[in-house]
Amino acid sequence: MLLNEIIEKRERSAGAESMTNNNLLGLLLESNLNEENNYSKSNTMTMEDVIEECKLFYFAGQATTADLLIWTMVVLSMHPSWQKRAREEVLQVIGDKKPSFDNLSHLKIMTLILYEVLRLYPPTPLIRRTRKITKLGEFTLPANLEIMIPLLFVHRDTEQLGDDANEFNPERFSEGISRSYKDQISYFPFGWGHRICIGQNFALLEAKMALTNILQHFSFELSPSYTHAPSTIITLQPERGAQIILHKL
Ligand code: HEM
Repeated sequence: MLLNEIIEKRERSAGAESMTNNNLLGLLLESNLNEENNYSKSNTMTMEDVIEECKLFYFAGQATTADLLIWTMVVLSMHPSWQKRAREEVLQVIGDKKPSFDNLSHLKIMTLILYEVLRLYPPTPLIRRTRKITKLGEFTLPANLEIMIPLLFVHRDTEQLGDDANEFNPERFSEGISRSYKDQISYFPFGWGHRICIGQNFALLEAKMALTNILQHFSFELSPSYTHAPSTIITLQPERGAQIILHKL
């Protein structure tokens, strides 16, 4: 209902100066209008399509990145030496300035930390549906079967990663992702193939920006009331919350 109203208002102002394309909805409506004017109406998105696209972006982009940030705060609270290393790097590369696109790309330790958090706490499982009877290894799957690939377990495969697969060790990615696995890559927090996440670079940038701001201004630790209970409630969330105590620096 809310989205319906927003879209109708945007459509009414179509063509007027006020119609901006500086966000997803504006871009979708502008492309729809171009398609309709230059080609045919049959190729345009319906109101329902536009609403579904907005919902997908909101859901796919918001909860997942928030989960990544929450788990990073939890993990850096559990491993203060890595929190210290991350802060030292931020202060060395960015100082107390506002982070920019350019200097965020120089945060190597932070990148390793985020990769490792995405390995241990991947926000989403992968879901696939078989279109026809499909042979998968020794299994024959019927058509129209929904399969969930629990990345949480795939990412902790001791055969591929070694005995410390369940431990937090960002250093394992220091030679690149493919080097950290024995013979096949079993790390894909953003999916794989043609449905791979289109927002992955944006998500990492967003997470780096938020984390930089936090590390510049606060140190943090887990509250005694924190209970470690990762649980898949659509995305991987701390079931009992993430109570974190911040100390102003
Ligand atoms: C840490 C953050 C994120 C994680 C872990 C994540 C993970 C994923 C995964 C696993 C998929 C499914 C890939 C598949 O089925 O093979 C996906 C798809 C998608 N993601 Fe992300 N994502 C994140 C952030 C974002 C952001 C910030 C956006 C948008 C700004 C976004 C937009 C999308 C979209 C639109 C799809 C569907 C792509 C398609 O079906 O073609 N994601 N993401």
